[in-house]
Amino acid sequence: RRGDLVLGIETSCDDTGAAVVSTDGRILGEALSSQADLLSQWGGVVPNLAQSEHFKAIDRVVAEALANAQVQESDLSAVAVTIGPGLSLCLRVGVRKARDIARAHRLPLVPIHHMEAHALVARLTEEAVNFPFVVLLVSGGHNLLLLAQDVGQYLQLGTTVDDAIGEAYDKTARLLGLNLKHGGGPALEEIALEGDPNFLNLSVPMRSQKNCNFSYAGLKNQVRLSIESQNISPDLPISEATSEERQLRADIAASFQRVAVQHLEDRCRRALEWARTIDPSVDCLVVSGGVASNKVVRSKLNNLVDAVGLRLVCPPPRLCTDNGVMVAWAGVEHYKRGIIDPPPPVDEPDDVR
Ligand code: KG4
Ligand code: ZN
Repeated sequence: RRGDLVLGIETSCDDTGAAVVSTDGRILGEALSSQADLLSQWGGVVPNLAQSEHFKAIDRVVAEALANAQVQESDLSAVAVTIGPGLSLCLRVGVRKARDIARAHRLPLVPIHHMEAHALVARLTEEAVNFPFVVLLVSGGHNLLLLAQDVGQYLQLGTTVDDAIGEAYDKTARLLGLNLKHGGGPALEEIALEGDPNFLNLSVPMRSQKNCNFSYAGLKNQVRLSIESQNISPDLPISEATSEERQLRADIAASFQRVAVQHLEDRCRRALEWARTIDPSVDCLVVSGGVASNKVVRSKLNNLVDAVGLRLVCPPPRLCTDNGVMVAWAGVEHYKRGIIDPPPPVDEPDDVR
């Protein structure tokens, strides 16, 4: 026997994800469909367009995850689905699919908070990430520092007072005319490799505020002003820039990234100190969410954690960005503890689905 099987479904933003994970922690099958073309065409996520893409993809993605796992719907023990936070039009597509499967096979439903899924996935990929641990969640919409005390039990140490770091990466990438096909963050990280991180003298946000909150709006603005003052046009794609223009953009990207990551370091250092006064058994910093796939973020935070004798755990990049596996695994964590909802009623009317 290979443990019970939980199907996870994620549709909170622009990725349609599904996966089957066993209660003994094996990823049996996964599938993902992303909206890269729409994203680069519109420069961001447009809710009703994203919703119709989810509608087109959801049946195929779930079928693919099940096929990859070589199981059928009837082999499942529970269905987990992201219920928020996210775009409600998009969330609805996943929730409806999950309810249909759960209803048809009389399976419990496991409602999942998107950020909890990002946080818990570290316990799937790495052994011995035990509670309590500190987790930094960095994505397009969120910038959170939490003390994870147990499943469903999180103490918020800090959050953003304005923008999230991923949003600042995306915005800056757009202003620099980078290719957004795989998202602004990865594009900016790549071009920054060619740049001088000390080219711009940017101030690190919130240095005088002795808390664990974040702010990226000011940095975003500082960088925007210097892009404008250098007469860089976002409409001139980086691929058509002269080598001087390309260097200038790389220097700005590298400078932005240096300060953006420095801000993460500042706040994480303080959060670890704070968390250990609450519970000295904290021994690990988990970093998850899309921005956690950034190599500079990983190496800087690794140095920081090393210096205080703790451990850094970053899930592999494909599990840091939105995916079905993290939802299935969060489902397993809830399912094992009995934190589940009953199957939807058989006669559930269409309009509440
Ligand atoms: O977690 P995620 O896939 O979706 C949200 O829940 O928001 O995170 C997406 C965000 C985007 O802002 C994207 O630009 C950023 O994560 N991101 C990165 C990198 N890969 C993704 N930011 C910086 N460097 C990267 N390598
Ligand atoms: Zn996410």
